Amino acid sequence: MDGILSMAPRMLTPDTAILPAYFPVPILGLVPVNAFVIRAAEPVLIDTGLFGAQQEFMRGLRSLIDPAALRWIWLTHVDPDHIGSLERLLVEAPQARIVTTFLGMGKYSLRGQLPPDRVFLLNPGQTLDVGDRKLFALRPPTFDAPETTALFDLKTRTLFSADSFGAVLREPAEDANGMNPTALRDGGVLWATVDAPWLHMTDATALHRTLAGVHSLHPDLVLSSHLPPARGMLDKLMANLTAARTATPWVGPDQAAMMAAMATAPQPGARRERISATSVA
Ligand SMILES: [Fe+2]
Ligand SMILES: [Fe+2]
Repeated sequence: MDGILSMAPRMLTPDTAILPAYFPVPILGLVPVNAFVIRAAEPVLIDTGLFGAQQEFMRGLRSLIDPAALRWIWLTHVDPDHIGSLERLLVEAPQARIVTTFLGMGKYSLRGQLPPDRVFLLNPGQTLDVGDRKLFALRPPTFDAPETTALFDLKTRTLFSADSFGAVLREPAEDANGMNPTALRDGGVLWATVDAPWLHMTDATALHRTLAGVHSLHPDLVLSSHLPPARGMLDKLMANLTAARTATPWVGPDQAAMMAAMATAPQPGARRERISATSVA
């Protein structure tokens, strides 16, 4: 799909890798779309990338691991930016069980079939044993789909937060720690108001209690589907969600505003050329 930037995968910890991509959204900006691999005793892929970038995704994945070695494919939820290569992986990763919820399986059946013997149903609060570690399933503080299940790797203390803690960016970034703090805050608040508009309807006490639950895990590394990797900055990410609760609700452009914006938008090809050195070949 034109405009998607598929970047080279890279290791974040000795056994955790990121497959980063970016999806430009008119009006908003650049949305990171990340998948992850945990090289556990039973290897885990977390989400399967964007529709429209399957070739790049599979090429990047193969550079990290033989898909046939995957034992688990954890779907945080079944939005199109998380299941892009799932169909292909059902063939290329025949040993892998698809970790999702009953609702995730049901929603996916509206577009394709998940063979029942390939599915492993796991609910928030439950734990998946992947040989050398346990992965704790939890509902993240914000989400845009009811089946959403985040996970916490108890061995590396990494929180894979699904859509939560995302941010809209102006340009690709290696990690969240190196980002301009104002851009990170504004992009984080914007993302939360777009992706979880119901946040405005929650009360402060309920949100605080939810965030306290995440804080109690003490994650060293937060890996959102929609943010560059964030080390030791959970408090800042949580502050963005707190600010988003009372921020101005986001309303999308109407037709006239959209057409005006599209007419003046830069061509995606120009940006792609600038970063081709780090893109997946
Ligand atoms: Fe989503
Ligand atoms: Fe998403």
